[in-house]
Amino acid sequence: MRRRLFMKGAGIVTVVVAGGGVWRACDQGVFSVGEGPAYEPWKDWRTESNDGALALVRAAILAASPHNTQPWLFKVTASSIELSIDMRRNVGALDPFLREEHIGMGCALENLMLAAAANGYQATATLLPGKLGPIPAEPGPQFLARVDLAAGKRDESELYDAIPRRHTNRGAFLPQNPIPPQLIDSLRSLASGDPNVRIFLFTSEADRKKIAEISSAANTEIYSDQEVDRGSQRWIRTRWGDVQKYRDGLTIDAAGEPPIATGIAKMMPLAMLKWAASRGPKNRYSRLMMSAPLIGILAVHDRYDRQDCLRAGRIWQRAHLLATARGLAGRPCNEAAEMIDHEKALGKPPLRAALLGEVLGDAAWQPTFVFYMGYPTLTARASPRRPVEYVVV
Ligand SMILES: Cc1cc2nc3c(=O)[nH]c(=O)nc-3n(C[C@H](O)[C@H](O)[C@H](O)COP(=O)(O)O)c2cc1C
Repeated sequence: MRRRLFMKGAGIVTVVVAGGGVWRACDQGVFSVGEGPAYEPWKDWRTESNDGALALVRAAILAASPHNTQPWLFKVTASSIELSIDMRRNVGALDPFLREEHIGMGCALENLMLAAAANGYQATATLLPGKLGPIPAEPGPQFLARVDLAAGKRDESELYDAIPRRHTNRGAFLPQNPIPPQLIDSLRSLASGDPNVRIFLFTSEADRKKIAEISSAANTEIYSDQEVDRGSQRWIRTRWGDVQKYRDGLTIDAAGEPPIATGIAKMMPLAMLKWAASRGPKNRYSRLMMSAPLIGILAVHDRYDRQDCLRAGRIWQRAHLLATARGLAGRPCNEAAEMIDHEKALGKPPLRAALLGEVLGDAAWQPTFVFYMGYPTLTARASPRRPVEYVVV
């Protein structure tokens, strides 16, 4: 009798636990990857509607941005679009001069320009000059660039077509699959039309190892700073409800884990997730970087020049779109460049500027963006996006 009662009790517990698990899985979006309002902008970006230049904004908001902060604001008329940066949308001490947010603005500008050509506009971009400074005490919008639109020839490029398929891929790559030399040449020539940006590409094991080690050490050091961690945590979205509510930030789906591990991670309580994330081999990051056959560094003449940041962002967006169009994946890995800002902000000796400068071997160029590329082992998942209505002023 007692045993039967126990079995009955155990059955109820199992049903409740299993039911609770299913409920939690649903609540945490385990079965809804890429679904819901936060992901609509990826699907309706090219819908035929007669809203003219707004179509360009729909492409711009699919661009990359640091921690998916989406710092952009657009003022749209029939003949122009003005881009401003919303400086409130920052990652704090991780990007103390908003250098990376400005690079993100360049990424959005590039998508916008590609969409202008695809929609039959002749577009001319004018970037406002200026230097970056510390994040203002009361950050607000800052006007950065104006795009003038006139009637032009319709040109739907392979880069434009790749816009909805470009996602940051944080999974491992296939080290044995080298990047075809023609593609390396195409990547190198992306910046050849702009004397202010240069793209340095590294394929030898020795060069890549050096950059991976600098980046891995920078990763450990920068996130051990509590202020940096606080700035970053503001944009970590572990709850599915928050993903759908805020439609920005870094999600578990985009962390580059295989589907089952992703599903389990989404169901974990936050404390357990943090504990799990802190485990794993010490050299995980450099191993991940070394799985890619190509590491690149974008360099400019002045890392804190506003126009140079936008220019670098445009080149990264083009490079990532080109890689996507040709079946490759890419990921920025910027902790070493971020450490340059961090050391500057704290008045420390510029160790990382020296280390990365040594890698470039040309004092005329300052490293501002580091990335790796290759053939992926996993399909990258989309990140959420705020809709056009949120970012048009
Ligand atoms: C300036 C800049 C720096 C970035 N740095 C990193 C980085 O160090 N590591 C990383 O995994 N992703 C980095 N990213 C990628 C963003 O996190 C990513 O673009 C954003 O989460 C949106 O996702 P999506 O690119 O897949 O659309 C960076 C992006 C930009 C524009």
